Amino acid sequence: MPINFRTARVLPKRAKTHIWIVTTEAVAEGLEQQQPQVLQNADFQGKAEQVFVWPSESQMLALVGVGSQNDLDTQKIRRAGAVIGRKFGNQTWIGVDLSFIDTKDNNLNHAASRQALVEGIALGSYKFLAYKSEGKPAKLNRVDVVGSPNEANQDALEFGCAVADAQMLARDFVNEPGGSLTAPVFADRAASIAGERGLAVKVWEETDIVEGALGGLLGVNRGSTLPPRLLELTYEPDQPAQHTLVLVGKGIVFDAGGLSIKPAQSMMTMKYDMAGGAAVVAAMTAMPKVAPSTRLRAFVPMTDNMLGGDATRPGDVLTIRNGKTIEVRNTDAEGRLVLADALSLASEEKPAAIVDLATLTGACGVALGPKIAGLMGNNDAWVAAIERAAATSGERVWHLPLPADYAKQFESAVADMSNIGGPRGGALIAGLILQEFVAEGIPWAHLDIAGPAWSENEEADSSKGGTGFGVRLLIELAKKFEPPLS
Ligand code: BES
Ligand code: ZN
Ligand code: ZN
Repeated sequence: MPINFRTARVLPKRAKTHIWIVTTEAVAEGLEQQQPQVLQNADFQGKAEQVFVWPSESQMLALVGVGSQNDLDTQKIRRAGAVIGRKFGNQTWIGVDLSFIDTKDNNLNHAASRQALVEGIALGSYKFLAYKSEGKPAKLNRVDVVGSPNEANQDALEFGCAVADAQMLARDFVNEPGGSLTAPVFADRAASIAGERGLAVKVWEETDIVEGALGGLLGVNRGSTLPPRLLELTYEPDQPAQHTLVLVGKGIVFDAGGLSIKPAQSMMTMKYDMAGGAAVVAAMTAMPKVAPSTRLRAFVPMTDNMLGGDATRPGDVLTIRNGKTIEVRNTDAEGRLVLADALSLASEEKPAAIVDLATLTGACGVALGPKIAGLMGNNDAWVAAIERAAATSGERVWHLPLPADYAKQFESAVADMSNIGGPRGGALIAGLILQEFVAEGIPWAHLDIAGPAWSENEEADSSKGGTGFGVRLLIELAKKFEPPLS
């Protein structure tokens, strides 16, 4: 059940809990002399994510800290929201007061704080319960946010809600086991949601994929008993668009590694190898609400990477959609094979820019850890646009190089290239291989989300499992898209 967020002039009497978001300065100054007695001996300073709860006659009252107002940003508010969602998600109606941060002492605009707060509350109350026989979903269905009831404030609440819904949809897709969310199931579910939201949808079935000469996708699918899919989504703005932005996502619904099989430990979480595809699908479903002025196209190649009797063998050569050939020296480097086809298709659109999201390499996870995505690209302005979107969305990315001289590492004796390079710099090699399939002159960026797409811990704004990383970033990117990129 989506949560109903409303702007209210005052905290509503009927809400079970009244919550104030506070800075350390506000607490130190005695909350404008309103400091409750109970706070006097309490160990609460208003630090980020600190919570203090006490009962009054009619309500529970709570303070949630965001730290100092000097370095307050929307991500801190989002995280405070997530603390609220987690802690008070079992109440039906709560009220949140932002007056301590709706001040001129920081650079935040009221709408941006509200959007972040709402995203946090919704994400914090997220649970994946599809397979829990006694799972208890969060009960929260109404949140009143205090502020002047103007359009900007209310729009921000609704926008935040749409963004969070999209991110939770991505989490649901990722958390669904690989044996349940097969390629045909992923394509059907994504297509029906996208269709309901008013996007144009085309699902490429196996015959279309053969006809379309998507040799990478077919090669990876060869070890599977289930057919592959390629999902194509289109968003058309109301006014005829000047530009097209193409989103591409890796949709490996389960990565066993193929004949170059993964060790048991590494295979354990490989249902999340479609997290890039899930983020792309989810972000697209929000576009009719976001209403960017650009046209958007999305391509998500879907298959599992299995070891059936006719699986692609190491040494086999595949021909990608754009005619280039790749020797498959390691069947576990499959993401680049399916993305090669998708990037070729994306290039045929002659778009103003392309961005792809993929859980592409363990190496990127090793380099940047579980919270930061690797960002690579062929155009500095486009890379900078992605860095800006990430800074706004509170998702962390780090620009990595694409060193042209490393391309020697994936030369092949029999084909145009091999699908692997040497043992080091794996994230960059993968990026360089993808670049081979982007047509000359098209700004392209690649986000390797192998680290941040999955969380082993329960954290403020991410639950265990799929995180939905990239959804907020893509929405922000589409909203602010402004070619040409020089
Ligand atoms: N899906 C994996 C990458 C991955 C690893 C994502 C761990 C998330 C967590 C990808 O298909 C893969 O197996 N890549 C290989 C490439 C290698 C064979 C060149 C890898 O990273 O080991
Ligand atoms: Zn793999
Ligand atoms: Zn993979």
